[in-house]
This record gives sequence, C-alpha cells and structure tokens, in this order.
Amino acid sequence: MLTAPSQLLLRNSEYIHGKLLLLNHENDLGAVELQAHGDSVTTLALDFNHYLALKAASHPKVTSYFGHQLPQPDLFDTVVIYYPKAKALMGYLLQLAAVYLREGGQVLVIGENKGGIRSFDKQHSAWFELARKRDNARHCLLYTAERNAIPAQIDLEPFFSHYQLTTANGNLTICNMVGVFSEKQLDQGTELLLQHLPPLNGRVLDFGCGAGVISAALLQQNPQLQLECVDINALALLACERTLAANGLTARVYPSDGLAQVEGEFTAIISNPPFHDGLNSTTDIATRFVADSQQRLKSGGLWQIVANRHLPYADAIARYFGEVNIIAETNKYKVYSNHN
Ligand SMILES: C[S@@+](CC[C@H](N)C(=O)[O-])C[C@H]1O[C@@H](n2cnc3c(N)ncnc32)[C@H](O)[C@@H]1O
Repeated sequence: MLTAPSQLLLRNSEYIHGKLLLLNHENDLGAVELQAHGDSVTTLALDFNHYLALKAASHPKVTSYFGHQLPQPDLFDTVVIYYPKAKALMGYLLQLAAVYLREGGQVLVIGENKGGIRSFDKQHSAWFELARKRDNARHCLLYTAERNAIPAQIDLEPFFSHYQLTTANGNLTICNMVGVFSEKQLDQGTELLLQHLPPLNGRVLDFGCGAGVISAALLQQNPQLQLECVDINALALLACERTLAANGLTARVYPSDGLAQVEGEFTAIISNPPFHDGLNSTTDIATRFVADSQQRLKSGGLWQIVANRHLPYADAIARYFGEVNIIAETNKYKVYSNHN
C-alpha cells in the first residue's frame, strides 16, 4: 500500500525521468513502483524503519540508504523531496536536493495538505525559486521548483543549534539538529531523569538518544562507561555524535528500530522513550519496549526511564519486572526505576 504522497507522485510520472533520488521517503514501497518510470531509483531515508522496509523489498533497480546524506557524491536527473513533518527540516532537504541535482534536472516536492507543504511556494530557499503547484489530489500537493544556485558542499552548520546544560557534575554543550526532539532546550522529562541518575558501570544503553543529552550526562558522571546510543532518526544520531564530540566523550552511536538492532546484554538501560498518540498503539509500544528491554538486561541490571505520567507503563512494568518502582514524579512525569 502506497502512502498518499507516493500515489500522487505516481500519477504524475511525466515529471520523472532518468536517475531518480527520493529524499525523506515514507514507509512504503513507492520507490519500487517508481523504478518503472526512470533508469534507476536511489533513496535516502531519515527514518531507519522506512529504510529497513524498502531494503527488505530488495529490487535490483532500487538502491536504499539511511542517513543524513548519501554515503558518496552523486548526481540525479530527478530529485523528489517528501515534505517533512518538521517544517524547519525542509531547508536542509532543499540543500541536499540542490547538491544532488544534475544541471537541467527537475526537483519535485510532495506532501500532505495537513503538513506544511501548502506554504511551500512562500518558503524562502537559497537554492530554489519559482515553486509551481502541479497537482492537488488525495489530500496532497505536488510542486516543482527551479534551482537557481548550487551549494559548494553540504553545509550542516545552519541546521545545528546549541545550548549549555549545567548538571551536578559540571557543564555540557548540547548540539541538536532541526526537527530532532527538544531542539532548543532540555525537555522537562529528561531533566527529571537526569536529576535521578544513579552511578553506573559496565555496558549501558541510552535508548532513543535524540541529541545525546542523557548519553552526555551519563558519560560525564561515569567516564568509564561502555555506552551505546540508539535512535531511529538519522538527524538525531548525527546530533548525538556532535554532542559527544563537543564534550570530548565517546560512545557507540548507531541506528536501531526499537531494540531490534541492539545485541547482547546491558547493566543498565536508560531512556526518555518515544511517545505516540492513539491509545492502543501507545499501550502496545510501551509493552513491547518494557518486554524487549527487560530481555536485554543482565540479572540485577537497572531499567530507568522517564515518561509522561499518563502513559500506560505501569501494567507492563509490573508484568515484566514484578513491581512498579517510581523514584520521582512531577505533575507531568514519572521516573520508573526497576532492577531485573
Ligand atoms: C522523547 S525523545 C528523547 C530524546 C533524548 N533522549 C532526550 O531525552 O532529549 C525519544 C527519541 O526516540 C526516538 N525514537 C522514536 N521511535 C524510535 C524507535 N522505534 N526506535 C528507536 N528510537 C526511536 C526519537 O527519534 C527520539 O529521538
């Protein structure tokens, strides 16, 4: 099943020719369908789960990548940008498109009306102009635009922000990328978690590391930790690496969808886990996260998370850890801390 933006793209296949690049594609096999309309399709997913789904389809004319940029320079005749949920990310995707577009090539922008795409023709870009609406169907819009300048290289700096964080152990510089969780300041839930981190040792996992706030605080407090930081979002992983480097810290930073790509056992799993809308999915996701992380903990290992107090963690924690231990709470958040 194709997402609505991919369906709109397919019905406008006259705009697609030659080598095609899809930037920030969604969770579907649109790339596999689109390969019939060009010479080849290359995809760059910012979401690891979207990348995995496409890679599993394994089509000979589709080359899939995950990350904040392609692993090597390349040029394409058609570049399609799926309009991002975080509007600020569009500037970054336009820059990528401008770098990867061949002279005389065509850029297409597609997205759902309820996202930010409706104002795309008013969005200023240093690289593109003359945005023209080409189609409007399935609650989606399709634009084309003309490139008016070519960036010398991919410049990440305009898309990074920084803030200083003072912890009980000193100061940290936090670097974040557009569209990543709590971009400009410390999240209140994370703050509560950081105030209640016990001393740790051994192999520790920061699940859903985002910009690496928890990771940096853990390493600052316990410099000997073997820390692993995972996230599903390529820009979060980039920001986390940047935060660690800015503070002279090292950890293994890698993509994982849930705990699927994580191996072995940990002495502790620490997290401000992702939250989702929708009651059923929220309960399922919370239960799966508790179950999976309990399996990945050594005997006696610590599982400590902060969550919005309304999220349904208690039943799953009682089921997998035997009891629900809350070590801190505010009117918005609870810090759960259990041993395996
Ligand atoms: C609430 S944020 C916490 C970020 C960071 N630890 C902090 O405290 O600022 C949750 C993070 O989980 C990531 N995430 C969402 N779904 C995920 C999944 N299925 N697997 C791994 N990480 C995921 C998000 O990209 C986000 O960075």
